[in-house]
Amino acid sequence: MPHLGDATRGRILFGGDYNPEQWPEETWHEDVRLMREAGVNSVTLGVFSWSRLEPEPGAREFGWLDTLMDLLHANGVGVVLATPTSAPPPWLGRLHPDTLPRDENGGVEWWGGRQHFSHSSATYRRYAAAITEDLAARYGGHPALTMWHINNEYCTADHGDEAAAAFRRWLRARYGTLDALNTAWGTAFWSQGYDSWDAVLPARRTHYLKNPGQVLDFRRFTSDMLLECYLAERDIVARHTPHLPVTTNFMPLFSGQDAWRWAEEEDVVSVDLYPDPRDPFGAQNGALVQDMTRSQARGPWMLMEQAAGPVNWRGVNHPKPRGLNRLWSLQAVARGADAVCYFQWRQSRQGAEKFHSGMVSHAGEHGRTFQEVKRLGAELAAIGGAVTGTHTAGDIAVLHDWHSWWAGSQEGRPSTEVDHPEILRSWHRALWEAHLATDFAHPEHDLSAYRLVVVPQLYALTDTAVENLLRYVRGGGTLVAGFLTGVADEDDRVRPGGMDARLRDLFGIRTLHEWWPLDPGESVECGGFRGTLWSEELEKTEDATTEAAYKGGELDGLPAVLRTGRAWYVSTLPEPGALRDLLTRVAAGTGIRPVLDGLPDRVEAVRRGDLLFVLNHGREPVTVEVPGTHHDLLTGTAVEDALTLGRYGAAVLRP
Ligand code: GAL
Repeated sequence: MPHLGDATRGRILFGGDYNPEQWPEETWHEDVRLMREAGVNSVTLGVFSWSRLEPEPGAREFGWLDTLMDLLHANGVGVVLATPTSAPPPWLGRLHPDTLPRDENGGVEWWGGRQHFSHSSATYRRYAAAITEDLAARYGGHPALTMWHINNEYCTADHGDEAAAAFRRWLRARYGTLDALNTAWGTAFWSQGYDSWDAVLPARRTHYLKNPGQVLDFRRFTSDMLLECYLAERDIVARHTPHLPVTTNFMPLFSGQDAWRWAEEEDVVSVDLYPDPRDPFGAQNGALVQDMTRSQARGPWMLMEQAAGPVNWRGVNHPKPRGLNRLWSLQAVARGADAVCYFQWRQSRQGAEKFHSGMVSHAGEHGRTFQEVKRLGAELAAIGGAVTGTHTAGDIAVLHDWHSWWAGSQEGRPSTEVDHPEILRSWHRALWEAHLATDFAHPEHDLSAYRLVVVPQLYALTDTAVENLLRYVRGGGTLVAGFLTGVADEDDRVRPGGMDARLRDLFGIRTLHEWWPLDPGESVECGGFRGTLWSEELEKTEDATTEAAYKGGELDGLPAVLRTGRAWYVSTLPEPGALRDLLTRVAAGTGIRPVLDGLPDRVEAVRRGDLLFVLNHGREPVTVEVPGTHHDLLTGTAVEDALTLGRYGAAVLRP
């Protein structure tokens, strides 16, 4: 099982991105004093330090970093050292314009922001490798160093000429021949047949809809090229410090990386998570990303970034009300985080993110934000020994795959109202509200350990994945799938019959006549609940059971929810309560129980190892029944059969 390395040693890592180059040296001393006060034991250093480290080509300015590494070490703060390669210095773009990425219109993404690097540029890769090599050589043996953080939120696509050449190489490796590429992309449509590899382009701007096969492969290529950049730097640091873990931070609900594939190459899986404090489902959105990250890590993971207060990139940026930062941090620990970190330590006074919160806000050490951070640091220290290193797997797997998302989110589809992350959120919310512990899995993973597998939507499935689902059900598993599942193969070629024949057979669908997508705000009666977003004109086989039927309108009497044996198919998006009831019923049928019975509204219970986390996401105090005798690690008191939690209150109970 992956772990966070010696850095944790029974402690939850607590800290954040530290950007001392934005501050004079006296502030560094105040920083470490406040870090000690807050129980900060880990900072991520150097994420955006390239121009400070290499102010001109080939120069090295390590003195300031030497001072900081020593200062942090002397104050008991470990360092997650970042390679600075996500924000190249201006000189790199000026001297080597080939390092700058181009958007789909051919426009250059200039320096002056960040992430302005072309993943395919040999020059960029050479400079990135050189600074990584020198950083690793210089600090590999430093006692403050606990982990490597490569680049930051890899996401930049590139449509330029060097990327075009790399795309052709990638396609040659995938398809071998132009004939195979023409077949995979369906280039017979609209006269797109390629006679030469040189004619093949990245998914640049076109007059009208683009070739979907090309777009899908371009997204795969982008993820793979960024992964190559990551691997090149990872291999350098690993050569210097084979004993230290390496990570890079994901943003899983942005679509740029195939995080299943990437996670295989990380020692520690880390994630950035910024739910909106005003969003009534902020806690559930957080839980979704946490469940996904734990599943990718198959063990403890790292919350690399969250915000102590407001972010600055929403239209309206709300602060976290008192107690919410603590609650959401404990929620992450409950779901397997062994590190609770922030962007960033000290709120900037200049630059593009000066209105983004920090652990030390503009209000300073007496501000509410820092006071709450301090309290959280003490609490995490109190529970660290009991939680770190432990892992609890769920009984339910929600299947998710980036390639399927990429294929299914293209232009020219039946309804632009169908948004993949929203579908995922709806299904995860149903499980979350039913207090059913949930993992995520890839459709080709071994699913046999799960009693229930839920497929919110997997538009494109490989044959291997289809066979995997069939094997799972044949082996005794229960499967519930939502609409637009199994429509296309891995080339985004629609399966004959509009849905994979093996899956139609499994669910008991004789004919899928038509899809009937619904308008925004429209819903259909399904006998007891309303369906939203989508409906289908299905003809079932004799042995399938209609669990719910459409009432009225064109589809009157046709199945909305269909079941054959242990395989369920849901051809609409049931309103939230109905989807929750359906999944609760199916889960109960497999013997899965909620984490705790009788939980009040807005209270969440999560098991991690032998601990039970109880979290009140509401603003009203609640009493929660917890049968038996427990010890609350946060208050140090005994809990007999019930406990009361105040607004945003939390308890960490040991039996
Ligand atoms: C993250 C990024 C940080 C910071 C933060 C602001 O996406 O990694 O550097 O920009 O967002 O929320």
